[in-house]
Amino acid sequence: MDYEVAVVGGGVIGLAVARAAARAGLRTVVLERESCGAGASGAAAGMLAPLAEAHRGPFLDWCVAALRLMSAEAPVIEGESGVDLELRGGMVHLVPEEELAERLERAATAGLPLRRLTQADLRELAPGVSSGDLAALWSPDEAVLRPSRLVIGLRQAAERAGAEVREGEAVLGLVEGQNAVRGVRTSRGEVAADHVVVAAGAWTDAVAPGAGIRPVHGVLVELEPELAPFRPAVFGPDGYAVPRADGRLWWGATQREIGFATNVPAEDLAVLIARAVARVPALGDARFLRAWSGLRPAAPDRQPLVGPDLTRSGLWWAAGHFRNGILLSLLTGEMVAAGLLGRTPPADPRPFLPARLTAVGR
Ligand code: FAD
Ligand code: GLY
Repeated sequence: MDYEVAVVGGGVIGLAVARAAARAGLRTVVLERESCGAGASGAAAGMLAPLAEAHRGPFLDWCVAALRLMSAEAPVIEGESGVDLELRGGMVHLVPEEELAERLERAATAGLPLRRLTQADLRELAPGVSSGDLAALWSPDEAVLRPSRLVIGLRQAAERAGAEVREGEAVLGLVEGQNAVRGVRTSRGEVAADHVVVAAGAWTDAVAPGAGIRPVHGVLVELEPELAPFRPAVFGPDGYAVPRADGRLWWGATQREIGFATNVPAEDLAVLIARAVARVPALGDARFLRAWSGLRPAAPDRQPLVGPDLTRSGLWWAAGHFRNGILLSLLTGEMVAAGLLGRTPPADPRPFLPARLTAVGR
């Protein structure tokens, strides 16, 4: 069978593209060399937090649009898939006093509410969290979800809309002719498609060289406190805590460039646990359950790469989402689908078009 769209990679980005394309009526296939969620998407914390990591400009605009889209669409995906995404609203920010004005200004620019908390407010919202000399702020519209659930939910929603998801099928290269891409070569043969969307995360350059995407390693730990932890996520300069619905707590994350290694270095574990216990002293008695790592896909300028290749028709990029791919997944899916169909996109595509990287837009 020939497809209109072949998506390379079954992480949240590829699956969100597939869901959006299939819902728009395009014959779509996802090719995933392992299993869906095997890359960064299965390792992420799941924060939907523009105010934490998106400082300003078009990236902040995209992150805010993505948060609004995710908040509106999460129940739709839950309905399409029958999967509870564990979406929980509200986040505490811990900020050095000298950064307070900038963070409040960022929130005002983003149109997201953010208010300063007293010590009593903080004790009530996040008991056990020690803010030290940091200012505490409450952001009711930011949220977290469980990324592994988003992977399953998006996959099932994409399949329900008519997309085919093929796991255990690696893409080995593009099928090209006369400045156009006509499909992909895979470990099982050739797949013909009018459009190929490369969403292979940190491995994007191995599929279609040129974008300069690099892996950035990150580790998270899972702890089981004696008593159920506070409810909202807490984001600070020393890391972040994401309490889960099952009473466990994730603390993250490290950030290192060590190639494609996915081991958990003992030093990273020690640093994360020390920081978690310093911020939430009661975690000293918590049970350590596990730690894991993932590879964030980072473009040279750490910004996403979303849209058509400049010179090869039929080739699309959906990569480089670095620290915010869970947040940006649905928006990226809608941006690519709008581009494929020539429809008005939900956000300004220009800042993140591949043409900005000359290697890709050659
Ligand atoms: P991936 O999830 O890596 O998916 C790429 C897929 O492509 C993989 O499944 C891989 O197997 C497949 N693939 C690769 N090569 C081939 C090939 N040749 N053929 C077929 N398939 C192939 N983001 C947030 O928004 N919020 C967070 O709180 C957050 N926390 C994070 C915490 C950590 C520790 C890490 C590591 C990341 C975090 N992120 C977070 C970032 C987020 O996880 C990534 O930006 C996002 O998952 C990228 O999704 P992706 O689909 O592009 O890549
Ligand atoms: N956004 C959280 C992380 O990448 O660690």
